[in-house]
Amino acid sequence: MNYVRDQFPGLKSEWAFMDNAGGSQILKGCVDKITEYYYSNNVQLGGSYQVSQEALKAFANGRENIATFFNAARPEEIVFGPSTTVLLQFLSKSMASQFRAGDEVIVTITDHESNIGPWVWLEERGVRIKFWPMNKETYELELEALDALMTEKTKLVAFTHVSNLLGTINDVKKITEFVHERGALVCVDAVAYAPHRAVDVQDWNVDFYALSLYKTFGPHHAALYCRYDHMLNLDGLYHYFYGKDKIPAKLEPGNANYELSYGSGAIVDYLVALGEQAGANGSRRMKLETAYKDIAAQETILCEKVLSYLRKRNDCTILGIKDGLDPRRVPTIAFTIEGKDPQKICLEMDQHKIAIRFGDFHARRLADSLDISKDNGAVRISLTHYNTVEEVEKLINALDMVLAK
Ligand SMILES: Cc1ncc(COP(=O)(O)O)c(C=O)c1O
Repeated sequence: MNYVRDQFPGLKSEWAFMDNAGGSQILKGCVDKITEYYYSNNVQLGGSYQVSQEALKAFANGRENIATFFNAARPEEIVFGPSTTVLLQFLSKSMASQFRAGDEVIVTITDHESNIGPWVWLEERGVRIKFWPMNKETYELELEALDALMTEKTKLVAFTHVSNLLGTINDVKKITEFVHERGALVCVDAVAYAPHRAVDVQDWNVDFYALSLYKTFGPHHAALYCRYDHMLNLDGLYHYFYGKDKIPAKLEPGNANYELSYGSGAIVDYLVALGEQAGANGSRRMKLETAYKDIAAQETILCEKVLSYLRKRNDCTILGIKDGLDPRRVPTIAFTIEGKDPQKICLEMDQHKIAIRFGDFHARRLADSLDISKDNGAVRISLTHYNTVEEVEKLINALDMVLAK
């Protein structure tokens, strides 16, 4: 833990950061790489001169690192952008010409609006949008419910790997196989998954997969994986004289953010170093996977500590799996307390220097279906591996005082 916390300068603060699903702390390694880029490589790419060539290499190095993070087959399958929201809007725009009136797209009720809105937009082209509901008892998405919605007209199923409100890991491999067998593609929002478990787009055979690097210990930057054969078919969003084969730049119109792309590579450097500390040998990817096993182990301890406290309260409704030891649970824990306003709870927790959050977290349709939107949504405690047991004890003590008022 000392090594881990030393890598995040922001953790020297007196605050306990437990709003990590909103945004994580950034690694020193990312800040160093961004600074290095600005000080040594800050020229326009594409020039014949040496510094411009080096800047190009730095940009490519960032993409290679993030390809390792996704376990993509080739770096060109990674598209950089300012946010997941923008990348998914770009994706739907670049796919739009593939849809015909009467085609169907399925979205879920559990997603953040980023992976719903861009697909609902296709209604303008006559595409029919259907909502995959969740089981309200278990808060889970079930394949039987999806099966009932799918027809031969279904072209795409957009779903979340983990809901940023429920914290449940959906079985992406199984869902993807199910959808592919029925002739459609998948687009997965992995924003609330990537900080907690290793991503492996090849193993899961997903088509499109997006995540936000600023919630995964990096800068305000995001990445979208597009399987290479699909990437070839997407319409370009860049200038008319750049053809469909300008990959992946056709989905990165204008100049990309070179410094953040390069800097984001330090997320992988960190995970590799963490894997080495845990005794891993072999490739960078193998070390990264070991690091994530340790991350999951630490998170499970923290998650169960919070959930066991909440379970004991008979005024508390936990939104999602209640058992912190369940391997399908990440420590993104949303709950409501009978008769208490989530906003007031958070304001009082501020006094204890504990950073948590309330609201619908832009999963508005889910909050509506749970009937909590009008009451300031839910309180969310979102932990990550750099949180400590001591911080969680401080949280529980503070929560106990605040809820007793
Ligand atoms: C699950 C999920 N998807 C998408 C987003 C949107 O990410 P971005 O801010 O990069 O657009 C968020 C942000 O909170 C999120 O939690």
